[in-house]
Amino acid sequence: MGLPMTRFSSFFSSFAVLLGLVITNAAILCSGGITSSFVRLDEKAKDMPFEADVFRLPPGYNAPQQVHITQGDHEGKAVIVSWVTVAERGSNTVLYWSENSSQKYKAKGKVTKYKFYNYTSGYIHHSTIKHLKYNTKYYYKIGIGHTTRTFWFVTPPEVGPDVPYTFGLIGDLGQSFDSNSTLTHYESNPTKGQTVLFVGDLSYADNYPNHDNVRWDTWGRFIERSVAYQPWIWTAGNHEIDFAPEIGETKPFKPFTHRYPVPYKASNSTAPFWYSIKRGPAYIIVLASYSAYGKYTPQYKWLEEEFQKVNRSETPWLIVLMHSPWYNSYNYHYMEGESMRVMYEPWFVKNKVDLVFAGHVHAYERSERISNVAYNVVNGLCSPVSDSSAPVYITIGDGGNLEGLATNMTEPQPKYSAFREASFGHAILDIKNRTHARYGWHRNQDGYAVEADSMWFYNRVWHPLDDSTSGKS
Ligand SMILES: *[C@@H]1O[C@H](CO)[C@@H](O)[C@H](O)[C@H]1NC(C)=O
Ligand SMILES: *[C@@H]1O[C@H](CO)[C@@H](O)[C@H](O)[C@H]1NC(C)=O
Ligand SMILES: *[C@@H]1O[C@H](CO)[C@@H](O)[C@H](O)[C@H]1NC(C)=O
Ligand SMILES: *[C@@H]1O[C@H](CO)[C@@H](O)[C@H](O)[C@H]1NC(C)=O
Ligand SMILES: *[C@@H]1O[C@H](CO)[C@@H](O)[C@H](O)[C@H]1NC(C)=O
Ligand SMILES: *[C@@H]1O[C@H](CO)[C@@H](O)[C@H](O)[C@H]1NC(C)=O
Ligand SMILES: *[C@@H]1O[C@H](CO)[C@@H](O)[C@H](O)[C@H]1NC(C)=O
Ligand SMILES: [Fe+2]
Repeated sequence: MGLPMTRFSSFFSSFAVLLGLVITNAAILCSGGITSSFVRLDEKAKDMPFEADVFRLPPGYNAPQQVHITQGDHEGKAVIVSWVTVAERGSNTVLYWSENSSQKYKAKGKVTKYKFYNYTSGYIHHSTIKHLKYNTKYYYKIGIGHTTRTFWFVTPPEVGPDVPYTFGLIGDLGQSFDSNSTLTHYESNPTKGQTVLFVGDLSYADNYPNHDNVRWDTWGRFIERSVAYQPWIWTAGNHEIDFAPEIGETKPFKPFTHRYPVPYKASNSTAPFWYSIKRGPAYIIVLASYSAYGKYTPQYKWLEEEFQKVNRSETPWLIVLMHSPWYNSYNYHYMEGESMRVMYEPWFVKNKVDLVFAGHVHAYERSERISNVAYNVVNGLCSPVSDSSAPVYITIGDGGNLEGLATNMTEPQPKYSAFREASFGHAILDIKNRTHARYGWHRNQDGYAVEADSMWFYNRVWHPLDDSTSGKS
């Protein structure tokens, strides 16, 4: 029994050669990044049932529900307060006052309603509170005349280069048990987020028969525990389109625009899908993956002018949000962001965008600083290259919606991809000053304080040193 020695050793040496080749190949192709070895239990995400505690109606006649706030102007001195009443229209007045002050103010707003197939919404209220003081805690009361409810928020510091500020990052949230876990982890993170940058795909109501808009209402009640107290900055995703000609619904974004207003006019945008805000040390540009972005379109013209307005002495951190990622090495939505990348990436590099956050792919990925702008159709220069003026691209579409995780990755991992993992979670961007921002991604399986991927980002204008995690040799 057994192989003669010579045959065995020759078998062994050819095996070794083969192994050597595999290792060399891996070294050439995968030197860029890490595919996390963490394996998440692969159960399908399940939506929370209608009777779940997070969807409970607030008690009392005509009580305001689905309360949410977002920034209401360009500089952070205004807040849009939104809520829904169901039994009757009720008052649209917000009563508000700052901490330690007995002086109460009123803001009046608008009420809207919409129908979607055979669904009729409640009364949707939007009221903008203006001329707030920076760095101040305000209480606000709504539902006046019937059941009132009181909430609070804290305004950001005055826009400026060295004011610390902490953003949370959440995408593709939905309303599954995993979504609830993501939100709980965000709330329980010892580094407290002050504002959420939400990268699109909110309720996933469109996954239900006739886009059952009752799921927009349940989603509003689910997230109220966070978004009634701190602004979430909205990006439109594909699940906000709600285009359903088969049931006569041909006006895109109808539920989203009725429910989630954004301050687009303050940045001279002409549509609520692309706009910008300043908040503390950050200039945040929100782009629309599902609105026209080609040359001569309103979004293109707006963005071209927008970059001229960013003053990095005032807002050192330039951050872009969009739904569909430009750099994504999962076999889901592969290359869907490519045409927008081709249009806008040269501007991003020229203007030294620090960070780009996207969602859409239900997993996590962080790129190195790379660009791919040399291609001119005939020169063949079509691979991403290391570029210290380029942003880091982060896909954070791992909020936990019912569609489940994107687990299938392109192999080998491309060089530009620094870290990727198919787990649900959220991230925190903790801006310290004009040069440094601490960043951490958290997966839901870990304790609240654990960072599964973390690093320091260096500002591209004030401290443009190499901040890559795997590029250092
Ligand atoms: C959602 O999370 C909250 C906070 O952890 C918890 O109190 C609640 O019971 C959870 N609800 C469901 C349906 O899992
Ligand atoms: C308001 O009162 C609280 C507690 O009484 C205090 O910590 C805070 O500094 C006060 N704020 C202002 C603006 O006076
Ligand atoms: C809407 O129509 C669907 C099916 O056509 C039905 O199941 C549902 O009960 C209807 N909803 C309302 C509010 O009428
Ligand atoms: C918007 O346009 C108006 C009028 O041209 C201008 O006064 C204002 O400064 C612009 N705002 C922003 C944020 O660009
Ligand atoms: C840019 O911002 C700085 C700091 O606020 C200010 O001093 C400067 O005048 C601004 N530059 C322009 C061109 O507006
Ligand atoms: C992963 O995606 C690739 C490309 O779409 C496909 O060929 C392959 O079958 C997928 N693998 C699994 C396990 O689904
Ligand atoms: C900026 O923050 C970083 C990290 O906290 C710190 O090391 C650095 O000294 C700060 N820079 C200034 C000028 O304070
Ligand atoms: Fe999406």
